[in-house]
Amino acid sequence: MQQHTLLYRDDFASMGKHLASLLDLRHALIDHHTFPDGESYIRLSNIPPGNIWILDSLYPPNDRIIELILSAHKLRAEGVSSIRLVSPYLPYMRQDTAFHEGEVVNARAIGKLISAHVDEVITVDPHLHRIHDLNEVFYCETTVLHANDQIAAWIGLNLESPVIVGPDSESQQWVSLLAEQLEAPYVVFKKERKGDRRVSIEYAGINQISTGTPVILDDIISTGVTMANAGKLVFEHTGKHPVGVAVHGIFSGNATEILHKAGFSKIITTNSLPRKGNQIDLVPLLADTLAEKING
Ligand code: R5P
Repeated sequence: MQQHTLLYRDDFASMGKHLASLLDLRHALIDHHTFPDGESYIRLSNIPPGNIWILDSLYPPNDRIIELILSAHKLRAEGVSSIRLVSPYLPYMRQDTAFHEGEVVNARAIGKLISAHVDEVITVDPHLHRIHDLNEVFYCETTVLHANDQIAAWIGLNLESPVIVGPDSESQQWVSLLAEQLEAPYVVFKKERKGDRRVSIEYAGINQISTGTPVILDDIISTGVTMANAGKLVFEHTGKHPVGVAVHGIFSGNATEILHKAGFSKIITTNSLPRKGNQIDLVPLLADTLAEKING
């Protein structure tokens, strides 16, 4: 039987060790250094033959995608049988069309680039909106997992009478699914993005939201502006402190501060990106998926 080895960087060590112990996998750290000029150094020693699983959410994206390419180059040179990327968060998926003349469609360019280096990408709730299927932009195998069972379980255990609120039309897909699972009402707002940190949101559904605990659900918190503006509107209209839930918590810049000021009672995220305070663990979901793939 072929060996399977899980590799991860230091920021994924806790998740990697947990995953490896559940699956009884050989595992190792990817040794990394940044040279003074910003270039990356990767060292992978004693690579065993067989199948390699790389656990990494490619964040920050530019550096980590290059480091994935460097790692894959070394692994191929060592003659491993396969390289599979387990990337709980997948970057570069939001620029999924050319909104203005001359713009690059990042999802297509990066999907093609990553596909040239790995045999499969396994991810959780990628930002699929105008592109409906990862296979439209990746040429390797892809597996898309969803965190809605884990999110529904957390809400079911911790909140009374949730009302699920989507901050924009893109969130409709997650919001409607979660509401159905929880047998809860839902409302979706309208958002217009005017810049990286400028979004305006149109409120809707005061009657539904007033009946329970407002839970604002989005796939990604990046600058936090979408979540914060939706939260402020809910508080202004209902006097209730909403709970913010996102699959992927990037929290760039002063996101934590603006969310704190927006009146949320809690902000809940999965551990797709390593951060102290993530409450929803994706390891069981990843372990079940990898076990199925490894054991056929
Ligand atoms: C985009 O439509 C996504 O679903 C999120 O709403 C967005 O990425 C959130 O970004 P930010 O936190 O910067 O407002």
